[in-house]
Amino acid sequence: MNVRDIFLADAAATERAGAALAGCAGLRELRHLHLHGDLGAGKTTLVRGLLRALGHQGTVRSPTYTLLEPYEFPGFTVLHFDLYRVADPDELEYLGVREQSGEGSLWLVEWPDRGAGWLPAPDLVATLVPDGDGRRLRLTGPRAETISREMMDL
Ligand SMILES: Nc1ncnc2c1ncn2[C@@H]1O[C@H](COP(=O)(O)OP(=O)(O)O)[C@@H](O)[C@H]1O
Ligand SMILES: [Mg+2]
Repeated sequence: MNVRDIFLADAAATERAGAALAGCAGLRELRHLHLHGDLGAGKTTLVRGLLRALGHQGTVRSPTYTLLEPYEFPGFTVLHFDLYRVADPDELEYLGVREQSGEGSLWLVEWPDRGAGWLPAPDLVATLVPDGDGRRLRLTGPRAETISREMMDL
């Protein structure tokens, strides 16, 4: 099986894929995960699965209006972005989080195209596309090979 292109039959499968990602040792080296896909593609569902697997117990919604929702874990911060409403990438400067990029932080970015030129380059890209009643998840980018190999072992 090539998990770089994986079929997700329902929302629970998307959450499991997020959880599998969270279980990868390679996650600690991951800094910038970009999530592509239309409205309703399952991006937030994947993020929810990932955050829950890391131990977050509350709700996880797309931060459509606030643009950014931070989640603190021991020694590790996840910043979940939803840039859908961003008209100009310069708006993002006001979030004041640019310096929170690097070791100990993981950026999960929905609608990364809206932040082009401001966002650091992704080391992993997840693309979700409709496939029948389900979705297809494709992993690309510099870390796709290692991460997908690890996901396969889980
Ligand atoms: N693999 C899947 N198959 C069918 N429905 C899914 C799948 N993954 C997620 N969904 C559903 O799609 C809807 C939109 O998901 P969401 O994660 O909010 O999308 P996005 O963040 O991309 O806009 C939700 O109702 C969710 O339960
Ligand atoms: Mg969303």
